[in-house]
Amino acid sequence: MLQRIRKSVYNRLVKPLALLYIRKDRDVFWYGIRIRVSRGVFHPSLYFSTRFLLKYLLKQQLKGKTFLEIGAGSGLISIWAALEQAVVTATDISDRALADIRHNASLNRAHLTVLKSDLWYALPPKTYQWIVVNPPYFPRYPATEADRAWYCGENFEYFHGFFQGLGAHMQADTQVLMVLSQDCEIEKIREIALESGFVMEIVQQGMIWGEMNYVYRISRKFGFAGIV
Ligand SMILES: C[S@@+](CC[C@H](N)C(=O)[O-])C[C@H]1O[C@@H](n2cnc3c(N)ncnc32)[C@H](O)[C@@H]1O
Repeated sequence: MLQRIRKSVYNRLVKPLALLYIRKDRDVFWYGIRIRVSRGVFHPSLYFSTRFLLKYLLKQQLKGKTFLEIGAGSGLISIWAALEQAVVTATDISDRALADIRHNASLNRAHLTVLKSDLWYALPPKTYQWIVVNPPYFPRYPATEADRAWYCGENFEYFHGFFQGLGAHMQADTQVLMVLSQDCEIEKIREIALESGFVMEIVQQGMIWGEMNYVYRISRKFGFAGIV
C-alpha cells in the first residue's frame, strides 16, 4: 500500500517536476564525479537505474579489468569505473550522449575509450571481463535520438540484437550485468535471452519510490547448443 502511494506521488509530482528540470543542460555531482547531462541525454540522478547499478558495482573489484558499457548515456558509470582503474570502453548510439561522455571524462580526468556504436557493430572483436548495460526497455520505435534512452523497438529489437551479439564479447569469467525495473516486460526479455542461450539471475533488488529495481547477472545457459 505504502509503496503504491510512493509510486503515485513519484509519477504525479516528482516526475513532472523532474521532466521540467531536465529541459535544460544540467550539471550533477555524484560519487565524487561532476558531470554535464545535456538535454535529451538520460539523466542519472533523476532516474534510479544508473545509481542502482552503480550501487552493485561499488562492491566489486574493477582495478585492471576490461569493462564495457553499452549505451553509456552521460558516462557516469563508465567514468566511475575508469577512476577505479578499470580499462573502460563506453559506447552509445546517440551523438549527444557521446559528446557528454567525452566532455565528462575529460572534466574528471578519466581515461576511457569512447565509441559510437549501435550495440556491438562498431566494437572490435574482443572480449571484456565486465559488460554492463542499463537498456531502453519500452516496446516502441524511437522517433528521436533522445527516445533511444527509453524505447527498445516494438518487437524488442534492442534485446534481440544485444543477446545475439553478446557471446562474441564474453570470455569464461565475464560478468554481464543488466539493470531492469518492474515497469518493463522482464519475462519477455528473459525469453529473448534464453533464445540466444543466456539465463538471467537477480543479484540485487530494491524498491525505490514504489518501483522495484533489479540488477541481473547474465550467463550462458549450461548445455546450450545454439551459436552464441
Ligand atoms: C537508459 S539509458 C542509460 C544510460 C547510462 N547507461 C546510464 O545508466 O545512465 C540507455 C542508453 O542507451 C543508448 N542506446 C539506445 N539504443 C542503443 C543502441 N542500439 N546502441 C548503443 N546505445 C544505445 C541510449 O542513447 C541511452 O544513452
